[in-house]
Amino acid sequence: MPMLYYNRSTILLRLNCFFLLALTVNSSPPQDPIKCWSRNSNCTITNSYGIFPDRCECRAGDVAYPTTEEEIVKVVSAATRAKRKMKVVTRFSHSIPKLVCPDGEDGLIISTKYLNRTLKVDAAAMTMTVESGVTLRQLIGEAAKAGLALPHAPYWWGLTVGGMLGTGAHGSTLWGRGSSVHDYVVQMRIVSPGRSEDGCAKVRVLNESDNALDAAKVSLGVIGVISQVTFKLEPLFKRSITYIAKNDNDLGDEAISLGKQHEFADILWYPSQRKAIYRIDDRVSSNSPGNGLYDFIPFRSTPSLALDIIRVAEEKQESLGDTEGKCTGAKLLTSLLETVAYGLTNNGLGFTGYPIIGYHHHLQASGTCLDSLEDSMITACAWDPRVRGEFFHQTTFSIGLSSLKNFIQDVQKLVALDQKALCGVELYNGILMRYVKASSAHLSTDEDAVDFDITYYRSTDAMTPRLYEDFLEEIEQMAVFKYGALPHWGKNRHLAFNGAIRKYAKAEEFLKVKSAYDPFGLFSSVWTDQVLGLKGGLTLETEGCALEGLCVCSQDIHCAPSKGYLCRPGKVYLDARVCTRVT
Ligand SMILES: Cc1cc2nc3c(=O)[nH]c(=O)nc-3n(C[C@H](O)[C@H](O)[C@H](O)COP(=O)(O)OP(=O)(O)OC[C@H]3O[C@@H](n4cnc5c(N)ncnc54)[C@H](O)[C@@H]3O)c2cc1C
Ligand SMILES: *[C@@H]1O[C@H](CO)[C@@H](O)[C@H](O)[C@H]1NC(C)=O
Ligand SMILES: *[C@@H]1O[C@H](CO)[C@@H](O)[C@H](O)[C@H]1NC(C)=O
Ligand SMILES: *[C@@H]1O[C@H](CO)[C@@H](O)[C@H](O)[C@H]1NC(C)=O
Repeated sequence: MPMLYYNRSTILLRLNCFFLLALTVNSSPPQDPIKCWSRNSNCTITNSYGIFPDRCECRAGDVAYPTTEEEIVKVVSAATRAKRKMKVVTRFSHSIPKLVCPDGEDGLIISTKYLNRTLKVDAAAMTMTVESGVTLRQLIGEAAKAGLALPHAPYWWGLTVGGMLGTGAHGSTLWGRGSSVHDYVVQMRIVSPGRSEDGCAKVRVLNESDNALDAAKVSLGVIGVISQVTFKLEPLFKRSITYIAKNDNDLGDEAISLGKQHEFADILWYPSQRKAIYRIDDRVSSNSPGNGLYDFIPFRSTPSLALDIIRVAEEKQESLGDTEGKCTGAKLLTSLLETVAYGLTNNGLGFTGYPIIGYHHHLQASGTCLDSLEDSMITACAWDPRVRGEFFHQTTFSIGLSSLKNFIQDVQKLVALDQKALCGVELYNGILMRYVKASSAHLSTDEDAVDFDITYYRSTDAMTPRLYEDFLEEIEQMAVFKYGALPHWGKNRHLAFNGAIRKYAKAEEFLKVKSAYDPFGLFSSVWTDQVLGLKGGLTLETEGCALEGLCVCSQDIHCAPSKGYLCRPGKVYLDARVCTRVT
């Protein structure tokens, strides 16, 4: 059967026969983002999607696999002596931007793949100390064994502790300590370049009384290697979840009150269907009956054949301009997901109706495609680059509650100009809206906010515009420039980072810690310097750059004039400059 359909590994094997044979293992759990041409040297790094926003490849001279903090110290010390560029890369590397790329071609990658142990669980103090390569899945599981819970975290359990802190990853709440994993850090050990009198590497232990913890908690990986993290947890509890579908007419008001009323609330917004799905989700007493389980359907192993069929259909709709087809498909998909409760079950077996009541650790995150069998790619995660499956852009930003309603109404105004415009987004399960609480971390939001996750078609050809290119670009620019939205550090296309650092009141404090911890910028790259405002050139003005979010167009050539797409003002946000099909 695998012979019947196109699969990238097969093509690669055919093209590069010999060399790649040794490297391409046809296993279906996600691939390792690091590939080396000789043992641990001459390497390329990618992310779990196999591609960065600029489609460039990253290279590194060597990769180190420390297994203890002592080994991290040795590695950092040797690289510091050699004034070598370094970057931490994790087991799966889920971030979209080029955060894991060291400068040049001969930098050093420090992998946290083997830093995956739980070191201490203190049930009485309700704290847990882990190495930084521990995944969210392990963290949740180990905590639960001791009757403890991390109350808020991302929904996908393949992320590592170091990576979640590196990018400020979050779940959804305005309550308690907050929605982000870094809000629960009470101590952290970090290894940074040191002076020669320190042996060229310095280990710092930061706790809540250190201001530097607010820099280290969300650091984009630029101040050193996080070695161990201690989290403050809570006693394990039960939750009750109910999804309610409504018309999106007063989403602007509903969104604010929902987050105040329900601890784990979030919203799925389908603007073209004029529909919003509200997640009513709260703690319940631990003797409430129920043993619910969440296994989110899009995070399950999917047959490659199905992924291929879906992708081919989407490519066809794009090339034929079949917006009607997209809208029909989106309606079908959303009603299907609604019917099967997105993968929630009342007892691990089936969905018999709301509410779903169960233990927090069975509901807070999922990702069973990580357990895909080694089945020669018959099944995989939907975005696995080794099969023809999902290939998308993600625009993810948070908007302060004070501007939330205006932003939502602007998007609604825009969509009202062509109600089919966002069917493509709905094919990726709509816009996920989550609450992000203000945090003391320097590179985090200082106002309570709502994070919008927008996923949409990306062509395999960088020069091909997508359907409703102009609408999507306008929403992105409206958020980032008109409403001053903050980017999710682990997602987004280049333009969302444009001027972003100026939106953080404590950016200067962060940069001070960075220069104290890594004075030679060995953990920095051209990319992180650009993002942190230390270097220009974040956006590239090249042919077609606006199509890939590498620039905001200022000339037609930044769009696709030969395909009829020219640079034009926005329709609701008139200052936007978007690639518009002119007929
Ligand atoms: C399917 C999926 C679902 C997702 N769901 C969510 C979600 O619900 N909420 C959310 O906020 N985000 C979500 N994300 C995005 C995600 O938060 C980020 O991409 C994530 O933080 C990356 O974690 P990682 O462990 O893969 O780290 P990487 O992407 O490998 O690394 C991220 C950054 O952290 C640095 N870093 C990693 N470890 C260390 C360390 N030990 N010391 C120093 N620096 C380090 C790296 O150098 C890099 O700069 C999702 C991503 C995917 C693919
Ligand atoms: C590194 O690998 C590339 C193949 O990608 C090869 O062409 C090159 O010669 C190798 N370089 C070294 C120094 O081994
Ligand atoms: C740590 O990771 C390695 C490599 O992926 C794996 O073999 C090992 O079982 C993991 N250890 C734990 C405690 O999960
Ligand atoms: C935090 O660290 C400081 C010095 O490093 C120490 O004096 C203090 O006791 C620590 N506080 C806690 C709560 O561990």
